[in-house]
Amino acid sequence: MTADKAAATPLAPETTTYLEMLSPADLKPSRANPSALTTRRLPAAEFAVGRRMYQEVGRDFLWIDRLQWPDRQWREYYERPGIELWIGEATDGIAGYFELDTREDGSTELAYFGLAPGFIGRGLGGLLLTAAIRQAWANGARRVWVHTSSRDHSGALPNYLARGLRIYHTETKPAPAQPG
Ligand SMILES: CC(C)(COP(=O)(O)OP(=O)(O)OC[C@H]1O[C@@H](n2cnc3c(N)ncnc32)[C@H](O)[C@@H]1OP(=O)(O)O)[C@@H](O)C(=O)NCCC(=O)NCCS
Repeated sequence: MTADKAAATPLAPETTTYLEMLSPADLKPSRANPSALTTRRLPAAEFAVGRRMYQEVGRDFLWIDRLQWPDRQWREYYERPGIELWIGEATDGIAGYFELDTREDGSTELAYFGLAPGFIGRGLGGLLLTAAIRQAWANGARRVWVHTSSRDHSGALPNYLARGLRIYHTETKPAPAQPG
């Protein structure tokens, strides 16, 4: 079991870290070769790709909230105003994805973000995050924010910090009581 999978146990305390960026000038772009990854927005009709990415990216990290969503719920979610589904493509396939959720106050949440397991550790995470933050600013965001769980990949928080997001809040939920 990897350290990351060990972290993703439902019986461990969970810390959630909230980060934000308040100006496009704060973005520190990845130094990896940008030609390694291209990003593309998908329409709501391609909700099945969003579902597949959610399943693949979150498989080892207890992403379970949406596993039971029927097709209708996926489609309606991506049809909501302010919701955008983006994929990141490498030469050998869809490497990862992100979702932007822009609210009426002009803040954009990076609601979901990540790489599929076979694409981690190649410099693509920094490139995908650079693209996601740039896209949020290009859409007219006034603030970009994200939250990450201690159950996510051990590179998640370092990647957010490396791109210039700043922590503004953390909260820890105790481990649930052991049964019996
Ligand atoms: C988090 C994730 C995107 C990192 O992907 P990656 O391929 O390792 O990313 P990169 O190699 O491009 O590294 C990006 C940055 O994070 C840092 N980083 C990545 N893995 C790290 C680790 N295990 N420990 C410390 N830092 C790490 C790197 O130093 C790098 O910084 P730099 O760009 O300034 O050099 C990827 O592991 C992932 O998607 N995991 C599964 C889903 C997930 O946890 N998503 C986040 C949900 S909030």
